[in-house]
Amino acid sequence: MTQLPGLLDTEAIRKDFPILDRLVHDGKKLVYLDNAATSQTPRQVLDVLSEYYEVHNANVHRGVHVLAEEATALYEGARDKVAAFINAPSRDEVIFTKNASESLNLVANMLGWADEPYRVDSDTEIVITEMEHHSNIVPWQLLSQRTGAKLKWFGLTDDGRLDLSNIDEIITEKTKVVSFVLVSNILGTVNPVEAIVRRAQQVGALVVIDASQAAPHMTMDVQALQADFVAFTGHKMCGPTGIGVLWGRQELLEDLPPFLGGGEMIETVSMHSSTYAPAPHKFEAGTPPIAQAVGLGAAVDYLTSIGMDNIARHEHAVTEYAVRRLLEVPDLRIIGPTTAEDRGAAISFTLGDIHPHDVGQVLDEEGIAVRVGHHCARPVCLRYGIPATTRASFYLYSTPAEVDALVEGLEHVRNFFG
Ligand code: ALA
Repeated sequence: MTQLPGLLDTEAIRKDFPILDRLVHDGKKLVYLDNAATSQTPRQVLDVLSEYYEVHNANVHRGVHVLAEEATALYEGARDKVAAFINAPSRDEVIFTKNASESLNLVANMLGWADEPYRVDSDTEIVITEMEHHSNIVPWQLLSQRTGAKLKWFGLTDDGRLDLSNIDEIITEKTKVVSFVLVSNILGTVNPVEAIVRRAQQVGALVVIDASQAAPHMTMDVQALQADFVAFTGHKMCGPTGIGVLWGRQELLEDLPPFLGGGEMIETVSMHSSTYAPAPHKFEAGTPPIAQAVGLGAAVDYLTSIGMDNIARHEHAVTEYAVRRLLEVPDLRIIGPTTAEDRGAAISFTLGDIHPHDVGQVLDEEGIAVRVGHHCARPVCLRYGIPATTRASFYLYSTPAEVDALVEGLEHVRNFFG
């Protein structure tokens, strides 16, 4: 078995993930390399979820009975855990949403309805990048269409990094908000946060960071990032689906208007008008994703017990090995950085002129799960003149043997398509 410095004890870790023992397609061992789409869920989280439903299930913040109090304590306890995990100065800065897309839509809509000094209007500009997931493009397009604000973006270099050479022309005195991805889901690139934040702060623009592919993989410190908002999702970090997080600076959350109205986000309501509860409740209308938040809290406990720095070190070793092995495959072109420096554990590639959907199908027959397509980042495919990519993405339980299985599978693909 290939041993690399920095690897976690994957034999022990994999015992926590029952699904990784699954056999598929007539007894083939599952090789799960689609972690950037959804990570698998450890027994520790599954147990907390079933205990929640078996013992504590009730609505939160509403009842005086014992179950309601327990559910509320568990839900708010999950907020404490997430706040500690991202080093938030206050638990009240953690808003639970459905997913990262909802978190980003929430920011765009808050700013769309805001008064000065935050108001986005036809005299202002919004800045994103060409490597954003659609969830960090479309909400800003909608805001730009609604307000007349100009949408601008950073382009990409040939090696899959942000082109910041014109940063002073892209981020200007008119820029109200700069929203960018910390780690690209398609290219794997880790972006230079400091340079972008410094320029945004010079012109007084708000900074929004999409950390969906970062929070599962590295130590998150929202204070060190110096952003105004940070969005991520639970199902890519060993948590359940249906739970996302928006962290925002407290004074902004106090000043900005709510987006969704309904139960639990109010202070008082009359037939003429309403006043709102303080953050985070102002932004959590209706019954929230309670079990999912509790599950995310358990996922945070699980990741913390292993250690985010240890996870990052493990993934770096696996990624470095994978990049090296993939570059040995004839006709394989990595779309994104071809070194393991400043890159995350998602690796996109093309294989000659074989369509990625065909690559994915042959790999699937071997039991190897990858994602194919434009990965909700179509502008990246347009930029590199390709219809789609095949993407392998790794996590704390991924092994060098799985990288070897992928490379072997790609040999089969090449043989199959001649
Ligand atoms: N955003 C997820 C991905 O990149 C679904 O696959």
